[in-house]
Amino acid sequence: MTIVIKGGTIVTADLTYKADILIDGDTIAAIGPDLSGDEVIDASGTYVMPGGIDPHTHMEMPFMGTHSADDFDSGSAAALAGGTTMTVDFCLPAPDQGPLDALQTWFQKAGPARTDYSFHMGVTWWGQKYFDEMPKVVEAGINTFKHFMAYKGALMIEDDEMFASFKRCAELGALPMVHAENGDLVAELQQKYFDQGITGPEGHAYSRPPELEGEAANRAITIADTAGVPLYIVHVSCEQTHEAIRRARQKGMRVYGEPLIQFLTLDESEYFNKDWDHAARRVMSPPFRSKDHQDSLWAGLQSGSLQVVATDHAAFSTEQKRAGRDDFRIIPNGSNGLEERLAVLWTEGVETGRLTPNEFVAATSTNIAKILNIYPQKGAIVEGADADIVVWDPKITKTISPANHHSVLDYNVFEGFEVKAQSRYTLSRGEVIWAWGQNSQPQPGRGRFVPRPAFPSANVALSKWKELNSPKMIKRDPLNIPAGI
Ligand code: URP
Ligand code: ZN
Ligand code: ZN
Repeated sequence: MTIVIKGGTIVTADLTYKADILIDGDTIAAIGPDLSGDEVIDASGTYVMPGGIDPHTHMEMPFMGTHSADDFDSGSAAALAGGTTMTVDFCLPAPDQGPLDALQTWFQKAGPARTDYSFHMGVTWWGQKYFDEMPKVVEAGINTFKHFMAYKGALMIEDDEMFASFKRCAELGALPMVHAENGDLVAELQQKYFDQGITGPEGHAYSRPPELEGEAANRAITIADTAGVPLYIVHVSCEQTHEAIRRARQKGMRVYGEPLIQFLTLDESEYFNKDWDHAARRVMSPPFRSKDHQDSLWAGLQSGSLQVVATDHAAFSTEQKRAGRDDFRIIPNGSNGLEERLAVLWTEGVETGRLTPNEFVAATSTNIAKILNIYPQKGAIVEGADADIVVWDPKITKTISPANHHSVLDYNVFEGFEVKAQSRYTLSRGEVIWAWGQNSQPQPGRGRFVPRPAFPSANVALSKWKELNSPKMIKRDPLNIPAGI
């Protein structure tokens, strides 16, 4: 069966033009004027764009003594309603659990997914077994490894371990990622403020200042450069980290930065709200920052020094947050955004003139598809690409509320936001999985794992290891990630 999307304006990361799209099965078969097919989707008055890819989610994540409330079923229902057709979740091995074993657990968790998905592998501990299993993880289609520089006593690893892991990534054609915060100093400041009697959510903000994020980002960049491997910094919240990324890129290093939609639009005043529940629901790491930092992140998206807007969707209910009623240090860290990302970025970015529609597509889909080595299967509107498409209607408005969202959360950190666009239709591999106003959802379990191959010239890093460390030969991109992002 074929479908034709008719009458819309196609918007990709680099082009805007009027054309129809013919879909045959899972993929785009043709793009051009006056196409016909068995079924017609009316796209008049809309922008037809690659489906959103959210590269940072935590479904059913075991964390801080509980599990995040959205699983792959409810999480993917939220994603597709918001125009996102692929998510990348973090597989987190338990202490001393092998990454391959953890991967089996995550495949099981992902069983009910309604949209396509992939995983990053967390380097939650380091040792021979971890090192030995990394090639098999890469063979399984996972080319990214996340390192936590924070969460001391839990997920955090040390610099020498990070260096060893980064070198292993370079050998294997994998891209290291970091959560950049100085975990030792965060723990010290948490204790200091708690001892001073600051027990509420404002203590979370005080104890995680931007300087500690910037320091860790600079350290991670140095470690990556020494290991001769590119680096992706997740949840960039502040100018200090953005500045480190800018400086590295200016020196020719391949460093990528991912601000979150929350960081672009919500600020630190939330932690001083008199309503404890309100403030605690917004506790995440790094925390929301001041408006100056928001300006820096927007400027990064505009100038290209930051590439991707994600969500870090880690939903904890009010009840779960209340575990930290008397101690901000044990409020589960995380907030929602998966359903809201596209609409909020469009409203605050495109409608305000900060971003062009093409930059919007780059930041929500195309850039991350390139960085994760799945372009143009995903993130593109070209013949042969997966027909993951959002028919984006800039005339549908909505007020965000837990009453109309698809997450299981009892609140929404964007509650009250008036967004100025919505997905009229979301298609995943040619199937209409969302139609505005019909509130139908596709079957759980229709989503597929998207393997992400290792970067092709990874062994350059291995063979050049000695030279890489000589001051004369600095090869900063052994992975050959496509240029221009
Ligand atoms: O607060 C956050 N970000 N929770 C999820 C875990 C992480 O650090 O990404
Ligand atoms: Zn993190
Ligand atoms: Zn995260």
